[in-house]
Amino acid sequence: MAKMWAGRTSGEVSSIADDFNSSIHFDCKLYKQDITGSMAHAAMLGAQGILSKQEADTLIEGLQGILDDLESGKLDFDYTCEDIHMFVEQVLTQRLGYVGKKLHTARSRNDQVALDLRMYLRSEIDEIADLVKALLRAVVAQAEQNRNVIMPGYTHLQRAQPILFSHHLMAYAMMLLRDLDRLADCRKRMNVSPIGCCALAGTTYHTDRWMEAKALGFDDIARNSIDGVSDRDFCVELMSAISLLMMHLSRFSEEIILWASWEFKFIELSDAYTTGSSIMPQKKNPDMAELVRGKTGRVYGDLMALLTTLKGLPLAYNKDMQEDKEAVFDAVDTVKMCLKVFAPMVETMTAKPENMKKAAQGGFINATDLADYLVKKGLPFRSAYKISGQIVAKCIADGQVLETLPLDVYQTFSPLFGEDLYQDIDLTTCVEKRVSQGGTSAASVESQIAYVKERLA
Ligand code: ARG
Repeated sequence: MAKMWAGRTSGEVSSIADDFNSSIHFDCKLYKQDITGSMAHAAMLGAQGILSKQEADTLIEGLQGILDDLESGKLDFDYTCEDIHMFVEQVLTQRLGYVGKKLHTARSRNDQVALDLRMYLRSEIDEIADLVKALLRAVVAQAEQNRNVIMPGYTHLQRAQPILFSHHLMAYAMMLLRDLDRLADCRKRMNVSPIGCCALAGTTYHTDRWMEAKALGFDDIARNSIDGVSDRDFCVELMSAISLLMMHLSRFSEEIILWASWEFKFIELSDAYTTGSSIMPQKKNPDMAELVRGKTGRVYGDLMALLTTLKGLPLAYNKDMQEDKEAVFDAVDTVKMCLKVFAPMVETMTAKPENMKKAAQGGFINATDLADYLVKKGLPFRSAYKISGQIVAKCIADGQVLETLPLDVYQTFSPLFGEDLYQDIDLTTCVEKRVSQGGTSAASVESQIAYVKERLA
């Protein structure tokens, strides 16, 4: 069939070229935004006297009919159309005849697709933010259920200092709060209307871009028509924000995988969020966490793909830009899927406080506190550090731990040691004394929880 844009050419495109060029199989996702955008456009054309009031009303009614029929299943997408914009216009013209052909006045698909995509992603951001909030609530709930559980904190994946499990979990809560901030920030810049930029240069019709922008919930209009149709920063920004969010989920996944291992046994995942092996009967695999970790790479790939596509593109619209949609849709769909499984996985996992405590006990993670003890007794930190290190070395050689090394042995290293040292190196003391702001003491974790809850409220 000849194209709607036939004229300059016959519009007879080879079927291979037609398939290659067509985007309807993925941009059909934008049908709702396309139709509501067109309704606002028709209303503006009517208000400005570019079309008659009656023509505008007819168009709006016709568009509403298409939307209703698509949603009720009465109307199916025609995948032989080039894209969603052509599909809607084609149906409109079939249904309304002559008037239908008037909708595309003072508009181009270039500003139309930019509009649709911004509207679509704007509501996706809201959905993603809600899912992040659900995950935050699950993280906070775990922290609250495990308020005083002590575990080893790690650096270099070597036991470092005792911390509260709740403190560790709240670290992820802080990351997720930043993710929410980034999404909100990205939404702000996204919420700028490109409609009315037309093909690239604006239009000779007396349009009112603000009227359309306000009707569609935008805060601003693109101030330069060339930029308005060429800009895909909002897609890149969103994918960057999603990439960071996925990176956080991936780090969390890695820890969950580690903690759920037989070696750590710090947590147990609910059966509902694990799988078995087809051959090894003993297995309980953390597939969900592994998949989230794996899909992070895929989302980074989406970001890189679009950045690379946009690099070096001349102004204004180029067909290369049609490649934006599959990348950004994939990133958005992937992160939503991940968050949907991640939140209940976290919510239903069970901490194993005894195992965490056991791991915290044997690893000299109170050696810093031993040094701090000597500092308290008047020694400079460097000297205290050295003595504590020598004591640790002796313990390792003798198969001892700091908690049970006799006082007289301690005193061979420094006369400053007294009976009260055992209290200072007790793991609970070590945690409880870290009252610095943001530290691991129970009081500090409590205020972190309160802070996050307040942000969520
Ligand atoms: N399907 C196109 C896209 O996704 C719509 C814009 C087409 N504009 C054009 N002048 N060919 O980018």
